Amino acid sequence: MVFWHVVMSLDGFIAGAGDDMSWVFDVVSADAAVDDEHVAATGAVVMGRRTFEVEDRIRPGIYGGRYRGPLFVVTSHPPDHPPEWMTSGGMDGRFVSDGVLAAIVALLGARVARQAIDAGLLDEVLVQIAPVMLGDGVRLFDRPGGAAVRLTKSAVSETEALTNLAFRCR
Ligand SMILES: NC(=O)c1ccc[n+]([C@@H]2O[C@H](COP(=O)([O-])OP(=O)(O)OC[C@H]3O[C@@H](n4cnc5c(N)ncnc54)[C@H](OP(=O)(O)O)[C@@H]3O)[C@@H](O)[C@H]2O)c1
Repeated sequence: MVFWHVVMSLDGFIAGAGDDMSWVFDVVSADAAVDDEHVAATGAVVMGRRTFEVEDRIRPGIYGGRYRGPLFVVTSHPPDHPPEWMTSGGMDGRFVSDGVLAAIVALLGARVARQAIDAGLLDEVLVQIAPVMLGDGVRLFDRPGGAAVRLTKSAVSETEALTNLAFRCR
């Protein structure tokens, strides 16, 4: 199953201006945003290079270092050497340049998720709404002129600060 996991501000942004992610950490510990069951069930993670750079800069590791396994970073400019955290401690990270279709399972990053939707690959979306309005930044989903993506609500839950909404793609 392919699912897209994302924390969103109430006004629809997944990152603030300049890729600011501090608002997420203001409301919830990054480690606590996703439960252990979800982390254990994740067989592989795919993220875009922009998301990777923010992770690498702020807090190297996936889900606060709790996820260990395959990681695919999609980029047309792979660096010569991956950072140490990507290939140690159970992490098996690599850069891929042939797009999302080459490496799929859990998606982090809007542009990469959009391509999975366009390719009809996405099974589920988990959006965690944070109690903040950013007013500027990276939108959850932009596809001007494109067809609507029909979803079916599958679960609603809450943690201390976040409201969790899960949807299945039709
Ligand atoms: N709130 C949340 O839960 C959450 C989750 C994840 C990320 N974020 C944030 O959201 C922002 C991510 O922005 P984004 O979604 O626009 O970027 P993104 O998907 O993370 O990364 C976009 C980059 O990925 C590479 N890429 C994507 N598709 C490709 C393809 N088919 N072939 C080759 N390379 C490809 C390109 O890198 P190159 O330019 O190197 O080719 C592209 O510039 C970041 O600020 C991140 O921190 C938030």
